[in-house]
Amino acid sequence: MVTSSSSAPAPDSDATDLAAAVSRRRNFAIISHPDAGKTTLTEKLLLYGGAIQQAGAVKAKGEQRKVTSDWMELEKQRGISITSTVLQFDYAGSTINLLDTPGHQDFSEDTYRTLAAADNAVMLVDAAKGLEPQTRKLFEVCRMRRIPIFTFVNKMDRPGRDPLELIDEIEQELGLACWPVNWPIGSGDRFRGVIDRRSQDLLLFERAERGRQSLERRLAPGDPDRAQRVEAELLEQALEELELVKGAGAALDLEQVHAGELSPVFFGSAMTNFGVRPFLDAFLGLAQPPVARESDQGPVDPLRPEFSGFVFKLQANMDPRHRDRVAFVRVCSGRFEKDMNVRHARSGRTIRLSRPQKLFGQDREVVDDAYPGDVIGLNNPGMFAIGDTLYTGSRVEYEGIPCFSPEIFAWLRNPNPSAFKSFRKGVNELREEGAVQVLYDTDPSKRDPILAAVGQLQLEVVQYRLENEYGVTSRLEPLEFSVARWVSGGWPALESVGRLFNCKTVRDAWDRPVLLFRNDWNLHQLQEDHPQLELHGVAPVVSGVEPIAL
Ligand code: G4P
Repeated sequence: MVTSSSSAPAPDSDATDLAAAVSRRRNFAIISHPDAGKTTLTEKLLLYGGAIQQAGAVKAKGEQRKVTSDWMELEKQRGISITSTVLQFDYAGSTINLLDTPGHQDFSEDTYRTLAAADNAVMLVDAAKGLEPQTRKLFEVCRMRRIPIFTFVNKMDRPGRDPLELIDEIEQELGLACWPVNWPIGSGDRFRGVIDRRSQDLLLFERAERGRQSLERRLAPGDPDRAQRVEAELLEQALEELELVKGAGAALDLEQVHAGELSPVFFGSAMTNFGVRPFLDAFLGLAQPPVARESDQGPVDPLRPEFSGFVFKLQANMDPRHRDRVAFVRVCSGRFEKDMNVRHARSGRTIRLSRPQKLFGQDREVVDDAYPGDVIGLNNPGMFAIGDTLYTGSRVEYEGIPCFSPEIFAWLRNPNPSAFKSFRKGVNELREEGAVQVLYDTDPSKRDPILAAVGQLQLEVVQYRLENEYGVTSRLEPLEFSVARWVSGGWPALESVGRLFNCKTVRDAWDRPVLLFRNDWNLHQLQEDHPQLELHGVAPVVSGVEPIAL
């Protein structure tokens, strides 16, 4: 049990309200590879919550595209979703916050950062493809934070891989034990539904509406209809397979689930809406409510009576009519109220939060209150940075959000020297906002910044925004690196090993050495040559030090 670093106890009724609000809340993000069906699943989940009225409202193709989670002009042009937003809905007595992560192949650091605000993750896997690269990367971030992972194997209505093989892949490759909550009967054209492992009910899959929708019929163990509707041999095979799954006999250990060591697994089909409601129902029972978070004062319990939270994402110009900046804050403890005066931990200043917003894709409404697990949007007059803590009561500062390993690097050139001031302002502000990482050459005569990103799109967004918001054109010159590593012990450690080959040394915004490699092979070579150098793919969080500006 974690104790809070709170000060004064809240009046009883407030404490009861807070406890009830926290226990009602479930917050999660979906991690998946593009095309696994994240948009489809999100849409079906929102339908259950009554948050949208019709399927297709999240992402419809063509003319009537009404995109709930897209809003930037660039997104419209490219027809993709770059930014993360938060979708909140109520279902079966729970308040659910779905942290939406960008779905495009060229995802960005925002995707990673969103996971810093999530208490649970749903790993969506295409039954025909199994684990894919983006899922693996996002999984690693979940693992770093030990987030509970729920697996949904999607597209069961189509021919897919052997379910035993899929489970094996997850267990072996990710080192994540699996506990199937249901198990598929047949597959593809002969997919008949799933066995609910705990109740032993059959959930039958019956196609309707030209295969786009299904009916879910539930048959209890003694129901005579079972033999009529499912071929005995398919059912038997499914039961045998379920027995074979490692740990099949063991009870589902919630502690292991919440430690991110054991993943409850569900099979279903988002498109035909099969297995989505049972998934949601089971998820709400198994997922963890908002949990205590690490801070400089130790773990902070969500029931700490005073408000606290941290900024996990900044976004400029969400609404082209207002040219504003919004800071997304994950509430971690206490009740947040409109017009509240809060402390900004980094600067020590007090700020009045007068127009907090709840965001639902493009729509915004002013919120009166919010609770742990919720996300609020604050108008950002330029004082918030990623990772900043806001609090009331005794001082607390949450652990920052690390810089994730970039994979794409390019010089950013300014072809117009007379525009240098705007160029510099733009680069500094976009870095502060976390749109991109900025590295510098160790040779002071090479002043141009090196942009470092997780996805190509981040670079395009930076160029686009430099032009649209700062009025400067820029040129990108790609660098042939794909791997970055931070060095434990900084410059002295690096100097102690002498000259390095096949890598370029640059410095980051906190004047730490970063080594850039063309490929993994060069990295491994260096590690073999200098085993004493300790390298990290994720940069340790820096707090209390101002970064170097361009
Ligand atoms: P994403 O957000 O993860 O990128 O995936 P999205 O939901 O857009 O789904 C990708 C494609 O997979 C879509 O097909 C979608 O209809 C299909 N899909 C999602 N879930 C299922 C499922 O359970 N079964 C089957 N058979 N297909 C599924 P599309 O052809 O790109 O679009 P559409 O024409 O179907 O809308």
